[in-house]
Amino acid sequence: MDRPTREDALALFREFNQSENLLKHALAVEGVMRHMARLRGEDEEKWGVIGLIHDLDYERYPDQHCAKTEEILRERGWPEEYIHAVVSHGWEICTDVEPTHTMEKALYAIDELTGLVTATALVRPSKSLHDLKVKSVKKKWKDKSFAAGANREIIEKGAAMLGVEIAELIGEVIEGMKAVAADLGLDGSLAAADA
Ligand SMILES: [Fe+2]
Ligand SMILES: [Fe+2]
Repeated sequence: MDRPTREDALALFREFNQSENLLKHALAVEGVMRHMARLRGEDEEKWGVIGLIHDLDYERYPDQHCAKTEEILRERGWPEEYIHAVVSHGWEICTDVEPTHTMEKALYAIDELTGLVTATALVRPSKSLHDLKVKSVKKKWKDKSFAAGANREIIEKGAAMLGVEIAELIGEVIEGMKAVAADLGLDGSLAAADA
């Protein structure tokens, strides 16, 4: 397989994962990776596919995260470039494969941040990304007990590797997630359902 398509990635992801939340996370990361690739004049399809597939093994093999994905993707004939990129998001957490390409640094930087952005959107009355401001996320960033699972140290390390400020990175994540807001349930439909 020279160049896995979005369809390949989505079918493979669904084969291994049932969780709606994990699918939403995959779609959020894909959306942000596409946006970041566009901003940088990079290969949007490749960045998107890598974002979509990065947590492939997480539901079935949480204790072998990254290692199992590497095994599965290699079995399925995925290119080494894609495998390296996917695995490197677990650098110093579940692998010693370091992010080197810009695409890999981007993935590393935004993976956890999509969680913080999602959590921030959900506590606002609109429950929407469309009116979410960088400063709202910044405020929640400082509150370490809020969405504590979103590891600020990792995000900071990723932003530094990428050479962007946290505020700028938050802006890119919000913009990237907006494109898939409806799929994430973060387009205001949840607030409408509450009313
Ligand atoms: Fe992961
Ligand atoms: Fe992830």
